[in-house]
Amino acid sequence: MCGIVGAAAKRDIVPVLVEGLRRLEYRGYDSCGVAVQINNTLQRVRTVSRVADLDTQIQTHAIHADTGIAHTRWATHGAPSTRNAHPMLSREQIALVHNGIIENHDALRVRLQALGYVFESQTDTEVIAHLVHSLYAGDLFSAVAAAVKQLEGAYAIAVVARDQPQCVVGARAGSPLVIGVGLHEHFIASDALALAGTTNQIAYLDEGDVAEILPDQFRVQNAHGDAVVRTVQTVRVDESGAALGPYRHYMQKEIFEQPRALADTLEGIESPAPELFGEQAPAYFARVKQVLVLACGTSYYAGLVAAQWLETLAKIPTRVEIASEYRYRESVPDPDTLVVVISQSGETADTLAALRHARSLGQTITLAICNVASSAMVRETQLRFLTRAGAEIGVASTKAFTTQLAALFLLALSLAKVRNTLPEQTIVAQMRHLRHLPRAVSAVLALEPQLMAWAARFATRQHALFLGRGLHYPIALEGALKLKEISYIHAEAYPAGELKHGPLALVTDAMPVVTVAPNDALLEKVRSNMAEVRARGGELYVLTDAHTQVLTEEGVHVVRLAAHYGLLSPVLHVVALQLLAYHTAVTLGHDVDKPRNLAKSVTVE
Ligand code: AGP
Repeated sequence: MCGIVGAAAKRDIVPVLVEGLRRLEYRGYDSCGVAVQINNTLQRVRTVSRVADLDTQIQTHAIHADTGIAHTRWATHGAPSTRNAHPMLSREQIALVHNGIIENHDALRVRLQALGYVFESQTDTEVIAHLVHSLYAGDLFSAVAAAVKQLEGAYAIAVVARDQPQCVVGARAGSPLVIGVGLHEHFIASDALALAGTTNQIAYLDEGDVAEILPDQFRVQNAHGDAVVRTVQTVRVDESGAALGPYRHYMQKEIFEQPRALADTLEGIESPAPELFGEQAPAYFARVKQVLVLACGTSYYAGLVAAQWLETLAKIPTRVEIASEYRYRESVPDPDTLVVVISQSGETADTLAALRHARSLGQTITLAICNVASSAMVRETQLRFLTRAGAEIGVASTKAFTTQLAALFLLALSLAKVRNTLPEQTIVAQMRHLRHLPRAVSAVLALEPQLMAWAARFATRQHALFLGRGLHYPIALEGALKLKEISYIHAEAYPAGELKHGPLALVTDAMPVVTVAPNDALLEKVRSNMAEVRARGGELYVLTDAHTQVLTEEGVHVVRLAAHYGLLSPVLHVVALQLLAYHTAVTLGHDVDKPRNLAKSVTVE
């Protein structure tokens, strides 16, 4: 959610800090700031504007330094304001940035106030800055190590001290932090992406680690206080994702990248096989009796589609749960369950906690479907499949979703193979279909002008209803989520059959009703639901396929996809809904890539 960058070097590192923030800005953009150490003073610049404004201020003040920390914030405690922006200072001696949430901040604040500390912000972060200060006696590393012992909750922090030149100390628990290694310089960041272009030599810190970086070395101490070695790896950081190219927004770029992202994800895969999910997968897949999918938001909707594929193709009972619900409810664990976590980032706090909860219940066969190879989820699961969507910058997930679907379809076919639930020729035919997806998605992208015309009408509305059935009900959910997240139009999705059980009361001529109506076995049922809407004066926007009897007429707008795409049809219909949401938000003049109140990766609970 928030982003951290820090550096200790023998050159001016301010440009590295600013560039790092630029790369992380899509994750949290309520405010940003830097603090650098210059001639035994700490200088700080903060803004509630964007990184570009911070950069202008830095240039205006001609700030150059060889040591510093920087932060881009997604507000949890305290409104987005300059006062609440990081870095937090304690008595001009300590500067600190923080990702995460400190749960015992109230108790710590009371104690620190009793020691005479004055709080200037409403943040939980300021508590850590004063706590470190209260423990500082000339050795920042020891002070931070002692301070984090008193913290409850999740944190990744980076700290500099006025009196300790060329030194940054970091610590993590529950939020990621990495160390970047350069020549006579070291860096610290909440994600290796922040350091792309500076270094690809990365050491990942573990839970409870405290680390110190100096220009020529770094050291790490684990949660027990023992000195440990964290291996430096060469990581492939996708820099291309950061370039906007000819597109107006990252979301638009990412929608149009989907044919490439799908092709990359499926590259080299001739036929489904358990081995695609890891060495141990054949043994596990032969053993599992059910599947439990855990995810949040769009990734959860991918799980809802997958459940239907898994039951239809592999005949394996499948449950899909919202991670934040599962982690706190009593459930009945079964060790022969394949626990699948789906996540673009692999760092979503609720999904990670749900995974750990599932494991703590003895469900140890775990698989991550994830877009980030170095993420916590990939590190903590026994099996994994990496989608190759490339960096997704737009807060609204698009290419991550469709590549997750491709991966999950492969999973269903692989389990079908192991469980012998499909004839070989059906598997071959389904694989052919899957490999053709990039081209089929390109054909949907060509419908953009028609969806722009719909968007122009949507931009005048306050509410919208999305309907779908079967495999396309999750697509209606995803379409509604996309629309509300970037256009701020209130949107709800229902299984079309539920319409008459309540939501029909909302239908008037002011309520556009988007209906996902592919040419499948449920089409006639959906047509009856559409008739119910028209009878109440509701305006229909129907996404259907070629050769259906759904026709444009008074109050019925139709966009037609090419021939029905069978079980993979959701992957195509969702692309049309992404375009509808995108163009509605653009028409309304919204900041599409950084919608209000949201952040890309939700790494706090
Ligand atoms: C989708 O557009 C969202 N911004 C959001 O729902 C997202 O899918 C969710 O936060 C899960 O993220 P993850 O895939 O990185 O775990």
